[in-house]
Amino acid sequence: MKHLLSIEDLDRAAIERIIAQAERFAEVADREIKKVPALRGRMVLNLFYEASTRTRSSFELAAKRLSADVVNFAASGSSVEKGESLKDTVLTLSAHKPDAIVLRTPWAGASALVSKWCDAAIVNAGDGKHEHPTQALLDVYTLHRRFGRLDGATIWIVGDVAHSRVARSNVLAFQRMGAHVTIAGPPTLIPRGIEQLGCEVRYTLDELASADIVYALRMQHERMSETWVPSMREYATWYQINARRLTARQVLMHPGPVNRGVEVSGEVVDSPQAVITAQVEAGVVVRMAVLYELLAGAREPRAVSDRAPVAGVAAAGGGPLA
Ligand code: NCD
Repeated sequence: MKHLLSIEDLDRAAIERIIAQAERFAEVADREIKKVPALRGRMVLNLFYEASTRTRSSFELAAKRLSADVVNFAASGSSVEKGESLKDTVLTLSAHKPDAIVLRTPWAGASALVSKWCDAAIVNAGDGKHEHPTQALLDVYTLHRRFGRLDGATIWIVGDVAHSRVARSNVLAFQRMGAHVTIAGPPTLIPRGIEQLGCEVRYTLDELASADIVYALRMQHERMSETWVPSMREYATWYQINARRLTARQVLMHPGPVNRGVEVSGEVVDSPQAVITAQVEAGVVVRMAVLYELLAGAREPRAVSDRAPVAGVAAAGGGPLA
């Protein structure tokens, strides 16, 4: 694997390999010294053109735990404000010879473009409404830790699918792992033809009780150029995940940031059914696994044991999840 641009690049075996590697790294996270020398001497450039709390901090932590050098670049406060283009910014920063560039932009397809402009391994950390593959991987990891295999599980993804890169990546990833996925929300926020991805579509939450896992999406105001729902209050009336709608056996997920009182009620966010914090925690080990796979695992499998003398880490193998 040279880049991680889309979940479409990964088959089930590749996802399982990354999850298994993340589990090995989770052992490291439990130690007093949470660092391995796997990527010592490598450079990871975090290039963020959009706001981010979870994704940016966890990529930074992931790279540091693998002993890589990390350069964090935020578009605000940089020469981007003076009009420098994405291409010129990438070419300029490539002079520092990054081994990997973690890229978040508001533009669909930007990661694929950047992968053609430089030699670094590119990790798509969100490209507009298109994809967010590491979010999908950390969600699969979170569910795997809780349930083992996802084969036959029913997952409902609820809310603003139209503006969500998470939804697209997660539909693909959950299905690859054998889950049945249903997309639900107001017709204006469900892209036409999304069934072609293999999921079902519902415009009401009447059958929400059939879900094992309820995955709520944020109402993404920043990507809405017109009015898509009459009001947030109206949206909440029909689609909010709250204690009335979530049954005791169901698990609640959300990629964050959460709009309490809009797509989810505060009480369900704070309930033991919510695994939102576990998702954030998973972000670090899964992103460690992705960086490791790109920079050490696949390219130099024989050198891995020298770089990561951690029990189990050297055995970069696949195998079933459960
Ligand atoms: C998501 C994103 O930015 O795509 N957040 C995240 O990365 N955890 C989802 C969102 O912004 O709603």
